[in-house]
Amino acid sequence: MKYLSVSEVAKKWNLNERRVRVLIQEKRIEGVKLEGRKYLIPENAVKPLDRRYKGQRCFEDSPLDKINFDFKNYRKLFPNSEGYFGRFGGRFLPPNLSKAMDEVYNGYLTIAKSAKFIAELREIRKNYQGRPTPVYHCQNLSNYFGKVQIYLKREDLNHGGAHKLNNAMGQALLAKYLGKKKLIAETGAGSHGSAVAMAAAYFGLKCDIYMGEVDMEKQAPNVNRIKVLGANVIPVKEGTKTLKEAVDAAFEAYAKEYKDAFYCLGSAVGPHPYPLIVRDFQEIIGREAKQQFLDMTGELPDIVCACVGGGSNAIGMFEAFLEEPVHIVGVEPMGQGREIGKNAATITLGKEKVLHGFNSLVLTKENGEPADAYSIASGLDYPGVGPEHAFLHEIGRVKYESVTDEEAAEAFFLLSRLEGIIPAIESAHALAYAIKCARTMQSGSILVCLSGRGDKDMEFMCKKYPHMFR
Ligand SMILES: Cc1ncc(COP(=O)(O)O)c(C=O)c1O
Repeated sequence: MKYLSVSEVAKKWNLNERRVRVLIQEKRIEGVKLEGRKYLIPENAVKPLDRRYKGQRCFEDSPLDKINFDFKNYRKLFPNSEGYFGRFGGRFLPPNLSKAMDEVYNGYLTIAKSAKFIAELREIRKNYQGRPTPVYHCQNLSNYFGKVQIYLKREDLNHGGAHKLNNAMGQALLAKYLGKKKLIAETGAGSHGSAVAMAAAYFGLKCDIYMGEVDMEKQAPNVNRIKVLGANVIPVKEGTKTLKEAVDAAFEAYAKEYKDAFYCLGSAVGPHPYPLIVRDFQEIIGREAKQQFLDMTGELPDIVCACVGGGSNAIGMFEAFLEEPVHIVGVEPMGQGREIGKNAATITLGKEKVLHGFNSLVLTKENGEPADAYSIASGLDYPGVGPEHAFLHEIGRVKYESVTDEEAAEAFFLLSRLEGIIPAIESAHALAYAIKCARTMQSGSILVCLSGRGDKDMEFMCKKYPHMFR
């Protein structure tokens, strides 16, 4: 009988060598023998069935089967040079601001791609942020539901307690190279505000953070944090006094100060080039997670999911998995129901519209104006969504599901009690979706982006859900 080496079999079966070794260790290949330290596999051995697609799943078919798209080249094609993902994205701004965006874009293409910038950011990621953040197997939570294995990408362990610092440090470093003296930013949950305040302290820049008054009350610990870090918090009193109005106010300030200031946008939204820049600074999440998951389990997860506000943690998590046979799910906040005004499920319920300088899906009133968005999670209650998500939804590569306030709150308390990890209420939305799957699926694995930690939400959640907080 002729025998093949691990690398020959890996090539023949189109797997990586690590995967073949795992299959051998799991005794799923017949007739393997060990010669010295080398495995030898019979030439006629049968490739084991991919367990990821056996049994009852949330999805029956492979996500890539129906899509005629080369995701290997995806990043080169999208966005195009004008910032479009298909028909979503672009830049809709008055000429002076558009010129300021050109400066940011040109700086990004030249400075941020230079070896010096990349090396400096790598150093910051490692020694200041504490990256890589781990992937953690939730043994207790998985056992609680019995059949599905749930894993977390622990962005809550990133310095500052959320994924937002990945982007804030990247943008602030670019601001420094561009010679700017001040950072301006909006914030909802205060996670991005804190991250920008940290970045400003690190680089010795001034810092103004715009925050709606309602969010300031709900996320008081983060307001204090921003102030302790030496930044100004500027209360926004207009409209619903939440994230949309904070963006309006921050943009207005930037329009006056763009010569000396840099707008540090916190999500994968806004005019070109921000959706591109934010995606690139956040994609470290998915790149690390994919390798870590492969190292831990020898295979890819069945499902990758993340909560979607503007969409930065989600796009950062998804990017590395787009070309893989993995189901990808963005989880939107359905708040208190499907009626417009009671949720922020933009992709599920929105219409195409320009908001804050870019074309995407937006929750709208009957008269076509942007509707008020609502979610228990201050970081998710934005009426628009990143253009790349609108595009990935349209081409069918990513599924967008939703969970309610109540479901997110259950997930918040369940993870805390079973694993000793208090998630941000934003991240609890992604976890709530994983829990829904764990209740119905017969087998499989789910990798959840735990975008942040929940200290900021403790007081509010315990008051709001006394029956869950006993
Ligand atoms: C912890 C956390 N997760 C998620 C989000 C949502 O933002 P994005 O959709 O840009 O990841 C926020 C926003 O503030 C947040 O604080």
